[in-house]
Amino acid sequence: MARSALLNVMVQAALKAGKSLSRDFGEVQNLQVSLKGPGDFVSQADRKAEKIIQDELMKSRPTYGFLGEESEEIKGTDGAHRWIVDPLDGTTNFLHGIPIFGVSIALERNNEIVAGVIYNPAMDELYTAERGGGAFLNDRRLRVASRRVLSDAVIGCGVPHLGRGNHGKFLLELRHVMGEVAGVRRFGSAALDLAYVAAGRLDGYWENDLSAWDIAAGIILVREAGGYVSDFNGGTSILETGTVLAGNEHIHKALLEVSHRPLPR
Ligand code: IPD
Ligand code: CA
Ligand code: CA
Repeated sequence: MARSALLNVMVQAALKAGKSLSRDFGEVQNLQVSLKGPGDFVSQADRKAEKIIQDELMKSRPTYGFLGEESEEIKGTDGAHRWIVDPLDGTTNFLHGIPIFGVSIALERNNEIVAGVIYNPAMDELYTAERGGGAFLNDRRLRVASRRVLSDAVIGCGVPHLGRGNHGKFLLELRHVMGEVAGVRRFGSAALDLAYVAAGRLDGYWENDLSAWDIAAGIILVREAGGYVSDFNGGTSILETGTVLAGNEHIHKALLEVSHRPLPR
């Protein structure tokens, strides 16, 4: 698998930040038992990881813009390119010692995502994709699952929690989806949910109220693995609306229909 120079830069940044997160994850498992808990420590862990990523990316492409969850946006002098970064997606899992979290780095060119890297250091799983070059998990080429009907499908989602999202709307969506599928999962990392769709682990996935850094890299992974990704209404405004719905051609279509059914009388 040949990677472009740009994708290599992204991979190096993700691996370096992943190393730092791995060390801190070990520490979280110790802090877990203390009364104060690892909360403050975790918010430092993601800031530290973002600094590592920003330094790596800006060193290599100093003119590109940078949108990261943990820092002020940098408007690059190169108006065409922007990095979109979540240094730690799956913070709640990380905080609770659950090894489902990762680094997410995307590259946008003229408002289109052209490359994405997601790295879960706890499982040493590196997902990469470039436009036209396919999607990979480590060295293995990825393809979305081929199941065609919802009754065979396992679907990922995001559950809005304390202070977040529209709980009533989600419950209505879930009510319809769970009645049609083989299983529903909530893994707690939007980036990895999309990577799992690309890898054929999940047949589909939907979530609302997300930010660009949660999903930018995952979008290109799914597309390069042959899948469909849209906003919740089937359109292309994924980053703008913070809504996402993904799967292969058949599951995407079916999930779109089922998740929008009105409340039965
Ligand atoms: C969160 C995760 C989670 C999703 C949340 C996100 P964070 O990102 O992606 O799966 O349900 O809405 O905010 O806070 O762990 O970076
Ligand atoms: Ca996130
Ligand atoms: Ca985050």
